[in-house]
Amino acid sequence: NWNMKSFCDGAISQIKEAVGDKKVIMGLSGGVDSSVAATLIHKAIGKNLFCIFVDNGLLRKGEKEGLEKNLTAGLDLNIKFVNAKENFLTALEGVTDPEKKRKIIGNLFIDVFDAQANKIDGAEFLGQGTLYPDIIESKSAFGGPTSIIKSHHNVGGLPEKMKLKLIEPLQLLFKDEVRKLGLELGINEDLVWRQPFPGPGLAIRIMGKITASRLEILRDADAILLEEIKEAGLYRKLWQSFAVLLPIKSVGVMGDKRTFANCIAIRAVTSNDAMTADWAKLPHDLLGKISNRIINEVENINRVVFDITSKPPGTIEWE
Ligand code: XMP
Repeated sequence: NWNMKSFCDGAISQIKEAVGDKKVIMGLSGGVDSSVAATLIHKAIGKNLFCIFVDNGLLRKGEKEGLEKNLTAGLDLNIKFVNAKENFLTALEGVTDPEKKRKIIGNLFIDVFDAQANKIDGAEFLGQGTLYPDIIESKSAFGGPTSIIKSHHNVGGLPEKMKLKLIEPLQLLFKDEVRKLGLELGINEDLVWRQPFPGPGLAIRIMGKITASRLEILRDADAILLEEIKEAGLYRKLWQSFAVLLPIKSVGVMGDKRTFANCIAIRAVTSNDAMTADWAKLPHDLLGKISNRIINEVENINRVVFDITSKPPGTIEWE
């Protein structure tokens, strides 16, 4: 009989035994997987876990603050917050190609993380929130799941040069099990039920160039959308729901004035694993409310459209 409490106890004693009194470094993304993995490791080795959160400036509204509240205050994790917003914005200047954006963001993350990790003297382990499906995907290269400890590999994209042993306590679990484990560990429900958010963040939800003002617009629109989705009780039923900024211009009218401004697309999908997805049939009155609020409350937006593409042939993200 599979039971989260016994999984939890087993994982904690395995981590204790493997790590001993050595130090573990771990990157937090703000998502469920890394938060649950870190909490589990923290229960096993306490102060010898050193978490690093890189703020790349591509996060949603209030994201860093929420994490601070839920993990630092709520669970007493030791987290170093690194503000790298300017570095990322500068590196992305003028870049429009989606794959180029990803590469720049991924490489810069590794540089920033590595520089921080090097300041932690004598660390021997790198913690990661890798799940079973992530391992299956890389099975041919790495031989599949064995124990929670494996020699270093590249599932999380971190460089070989870090020379750390990987510790991946979630590598036998699926997403729904990770959520159960998170609740068992006492992690805040908001965090446990968070929808997935891509590593490159808002950069792949702004079509074309990334600028500080475009990020600001998208953040505001996205916050309204999420607020209304939650208010309607739909947040946990949707795999993902978010706003996309289309920096094209269309004509509108506000009061007695003609406007010429940008467009927001609403994206909402249901899915089990992100491999396939259906566009969510959101109620029309909800769509209307989201549209009105975004146009009234967000500067430089005068049109809202709803994405009715499933995957395939579309992808969940627009880039
Ligand atoms: P697509 O857009 O390919 O997305 O249908 C499938 C799932 O993956 C997420 N996604 C990413 N996650 N880095 C990530 O960490 C990425 O570059 C990336 N691209 C897409 C997406 O949010 C969805 O859940």
